[in-house]
Amino acid sequence: MRVLRISAGDTYSIRQQVLIPDHDIKKAKFENDDDEDISFHLGAFKDSKLVSVASFFYDRNPLFKDQHQYQLRGMATLPDYQAQGLSSELLTMAFPIIKQNFCTLLWCNARTSAMGYYEKVGFTQLDGKVFDIPGIGSHVLMYKNI
Ligand SMILES: CC(C)(COP(=O)(O)OP(=O)(O)OC[C@H]1O[C@@H](n2cnc3c(N)ncnc32)[C@H](O)[C@@H]1OP(=O)(O)O)[C@@H](O)C(=O)NCCC(=O)NCCS
Repeated sequence: MRVLRISAGDTYSIRQQVLIPDHDIKKAKFENDDDEDISFHLGAFKDSKLVSVASFFYDRNPLFKDQHQYQLRGMATLPDYQAQGLSSELLTMAFPIIKQNFCTLLWCNARTSAMGYYEKVGFTQLDGKVFDIPGIGSHVLMYKNI
Protein backbone atom coordinates (compact mmCIF):
# COMPACT_ATOMS: atom_id res chain seq x y z
CA MET A 1 0.00 0.00 0.00
CA ARG A 2 1.19 3.51 -0.82
CA VAL A 3 -0.14 6.87 0.31
CA LEU A 4 0.32 9.76 -2.10
CA ARG A 5 -0.87 13.30 -2.57
CA ILE A 6 -3.49 13.33 -5.30
CA SER A 7 -5.51 15.98 -7.11
CA ALA A 8 -9.08 16.86 -6.18
CA GLY A 9 -10.29 15.38 -9.44
CA ASP A 10 -8.79 12.01 -8.49
CA THR A 11 -11.07 11.82 -5.45
CA TYR A 12 -14.41 12.32 -7.22
CA SER A 13 -15.08 8.75 -8.32
CA ILE A 14 -14.54 7.24 -4.84
CA ARG A 15 -16.39 10.11 -3.13
CA GLN A 16 -19.37 9.51 -5.42
CA GLN A 17 -19.37 5.69 -5.17
CA VAL A 18 -18.93 5.53 -1.40
CA LEU A 19 -20.42 8.75 0.00
CA ILE A 20 -23.18 9.79 -2.39
CA PRO A 21 -24.07 6.75 -4.53
CA ASP A 22 -27.53 8.17 -5.28
CA HIS A 23 -26.16 11.45 -6.58
CA ASP A 24 -24.43 12.50 -9.77
CA ILE A 25 -20.63 12.68 -9.71
CA LYS A 26 -20.91 16.47 -10.18
CA LYS A 27 -22.01 16.61 -6.51
CA ALA A 28 -18.71 15.03 -5.48
CA LYS A 29 -16.87 18.31 -6.02
CA PHE A 30 -16.42 20.49 -2.91
CA GLU A 31 -15.86 24.24 -2.67
CA ASN A 32 -12.11 25.09 -2.69
CA ASP A 33 -11.20 21.57 -3.86
CA ASP A 34 -8.83 22.97 -6.47
CA ASP A 35 -7.40 25.81 -4.38
CA GLU A 36 -3.99 24.53 -3.31
CA ASP A 37 -3.67 27.35 -0.77
CA ILE A 38 -6.68 25.95 1.06
CA SER A 39 -6.88 22.22 0.45
CA PHE A 40 -4.88 19.07 -0.09
CA HIS A 41 -5.92 15.53 -0.93
CA LEU A 42 -4.43 12.14 -0.07
CA GLY A 43 -5.03 8.75 -1.63
CA ALA A 44 -4.13 5.18 -0.66
CA PHE A 45 -3.18 2.86 -3.50
CA LYS A 46 -3.24 -0.93 -3.51
CA ASP A 47 -1.59 -2.59 -6.52
CA SER A 48 -1.56 0.85 -8.21
CA LYS A 49 -5.35 1.21 -7.78
CA LEU A 50 -6.67 4.22 -5.87
CA VAL A 51 -8.93 2.72 -3.16
CA SER A 52 -9.19 5.28 -0.34
CA VAL A 53 -9.30 9.08 -0.29
CA ALA A 54 -9.42 11.96 2.17
CA SER A 55 -9.38 15.74 1.76
CA PHE A 56 -8.26 18.47 4.14
CA PHE A 57 -9.39 22.11 4.03
CA TYR A 58 -7.98 25.10 5.89
CA ASP A 59 -11.27 26.18 7.42
CA ARG A 60 -12.06 27.65 10.81
CA ASN A 61 -15.12 26.45 12.71
CA PRO A 62 -16.04 29.17 15.26
CA LEU A 63 -17.13 26.53 17.76
CA PHE A 64 -13.43 25.84 18.39
CA LYS A 65 -11.07 28.39 19.89
CA ASP A 66 -8.03 27.41 17.82
CA GLN A 67 -7.11 30.14 15.37
CA HIS A 68 -5.84 27.79 12.68
CA GLN A 69 -7.87 24.70 11.87
CA TYR A 70 -8.37 22.14 9.15
CA GLN A 71 -11.60 20.37 8.23
CA LEU A 72 -11.50 16.74 7.15
CA ARG A 73 -13.92 15.98 4.33
CA GLY A 74 -14.62 13.24 1.80
CA MET A 75 -13.12 10.39 3.84
CA ALA A 76 -13.98 7.21 1.94
CA THR A 77 -12.60 3.75 1.28
CA LEU A 78 -13.99 1.44 -1.42
CA PRO A 79 -16.05 -1.33 0.27
CA ASP A 80 -13.71 -4.19 -0.69
CA TYR A 81 -10.81 -2.37 0.96
CA GLN A 82 -12.42 -1.21 4.21
CA ALA A 83 -11.15 -2.25 7.66
CA GLN A 84 -7.60 -2.72 6.34
CA GLY A 85 -6.19 0.40 7.97
CA LEU A 86 -6.16 2.56 4.83
CA SER A 87 -8.07 5.59 6.13
CA SER A 88 -5.97 5.53 9.28
CA GLU A 89 -2.84 5.64 7.11
CA LEU A 90 -4.19 8.66 5.26
CA LEU A 91 -4.69 10.48 8.55
CA THR A 92 -1.23 9.51 9.80
CA MET A 93 0.21 11.08 6.64
CA ALA A 94 -1.99 14.20 6.96
CA PHE A 95 -1.15 15.16 10.55
CA PRO A 96 2.42 16.40 9.89
CA ILE A 97 1.27 18.34 6.82
CA ILE A 98 -1.42 20.06 8.90
CA LYS A 99 1.08 20.79 11.69
CA GLN A 100 3.50 22.27 9.17
CA ASN A 101 0.75 24.74 8.31
CA PHE A 102 0.65 25.83 11.96
CA CYS A 103 -2.74 24.23 12.56
CA THR A 104 -3.48 22.48 15.82
CA LEU A 105 -6.97 21.16 15.25
CA LEU A 106 -8.64 18.86 12.74
CA TRP A 107 -12.43 18.72 12.80
CA CYS A 108 -15.12 17.01 10.77
CA ASN A 109 -18.83 16.57 10.42
CA ALA A 110 -18.87 12.83 11.08
CA ARG A 111 -21.67 10.60 9.88
CA THR A 112 -23.12 8.91 12.95
CA SER A 113 -22.55 5.59 11.13
CA ALA A 114 -18.80 6.35 11.08
CA MET A 115 -18.45 7.70 14.65
CA GLY A 116 -16.84 4.44 15.78
CA TYR A 117 -14.16 4.87 13.15
CA TYR A 118 -13.39 8.44 14.17
CA GLU A 119 -13.20 7.48 17.84
CA LYS A 120 -10.70 4.73 16.99
CA VAL A 121 -8.44 7.23 15.24
CA GLY A 122 -8.57 9.64 18.18
CA PHE A 123 -11.42 12.03 17.43
CA THR A 124 -13.80 13.24 20.18
CA GLN A 125 -17.36 14.52 19.90
CA LEU A 126 -17.63 18.21 20.72
CA ASP A 127 -21.11 18.27 22.24
CA GLY A 128 -22.95 15.13 21.13
CA LYS A 129 -25.51 17.17 19.19
CA VAL A 130 -26.81 15.21 16.22
CA PHE A 131 -27.68 17.25 13.13
CA ASP A 132 -29.01 16.34 9.72
CA ILE A 133 -27.24 17.11 6.45
CA PRO A 134 -30.07 16.93 3.90
CA GLY A 135 -29.78 14.03 1.47
CA ILE A 136 -26.90 12.47 3.45
CA GLY A 137 -28.08 11.82 7.00
CA SER A 138 -27.27 12.40 10.65
CA HIS A 139 -23.91 13.78 11.72
CA VAL A 140 -22.00 14.87 14.82
CA LEU A 141 -19.19 17.40 15.10
CA MET A 142 -15.92 15.70 16.02
CA TYR A 143 -12.35 16.96 16.45
CA LYS A 144 -8.81 15.92 17.15
CA ASN A 145 -6.01 18.05 18.55
CA ILE A 146 -2.83 17.46 16.62
C1 LIG B 1 -15.34 5.18 7.65
C2 LIG B 1 -14.31 4.71 6.61
C3 LIG B 1 -13.80 5.92 5.83
C4 LIG B 1 -13.15 4.03 7.35
O1 LIG B 1 -12.20 3.64 6.38
P1 LIG B 1 -11.31 2.31 6.54
O2 LIG B 1 -10.24 2.38 5.50
O3 LIG B 1 -12.21 1.14 6.56
O4 LIG B 1 -10.73 2.58 8.00
P2 LIG B 1 -9.59 1.78 8.81
O5 LIG B 1 -9.45 0.40 8.23
O6 LIG B 1 -8.38 2.64 8.89
O7 LIG B 1 -10.31 1.69 10.23
C5 LIG B 1 -9.68 1.96 11.46
C6 LIG B 1 -10.46 1.27 12.53
O8 LIG B 1 -11.82 1.76 12.55
C7 LIG B 1 -12.75 0.68 12.38
N1 LIG B 1 -13.90 1.16 11.62
C8 LIG B 1 -13.92 1.46 10.31
N2 LIG B 1 -15.15 1.91 9.95
C9 LIG B 1 -15.90 1.89 11.07
C10 LIG B 1 -17.25 2.25 11.37
N3 LIG B 1 -18.07 2.73 10.43
N4 LIG B 1 -17.70 2.09 12.66
C11 LIG B 1 -16.88 1.61 13.64
N5 LIG B 1 -15.57 1.27 13.41
C12 LIG B 1 -15.10 1.42 12.15
C13 LIG B 1 -11.96 -0.38 11.64
O9 LIG B 1 -12.51 -1.67 11.82
C14 LIG B 1 -10.59 -0.25 12.30
O10 LIG B 1 -10.60 -0.87 13.57
P3 LIG B 1 -9.31 -1.66 14.14
O11 LIG B 1 -8.22 -0.61 14.28
O12 LIG B 1 -9.79 -2.22 15.43
O13 LIG B 1 -8.98 -2.69 13.12
C15 LIG B 1 -14.91 3.65 5.63
O14 LIG B 1 -15.49 2.61 6.39
C16 LIG B 1 -15.93 4.21 4.69
O15 LIG B 1 -15.58 4.64 3.57
N6 LIG B 1 -17.21 4.21 5.10
C17 LIG B 1 -18.28 4.73 4.27
C18 LIG B 1 -18.15 6.24 4.06
C19 LIG B 1 -18.14 7.03 5.35
O16 LIG B 1 -18.98 6.84 6.23
N7 LIG B 1 -17.18 7.97 5.44
C20 LIG B 1 -17.08 8.88 6.57
C21 LIG B 1 -17.94 10.06 6.26
S1 LIG B 1 -18.02 11.20 7.63
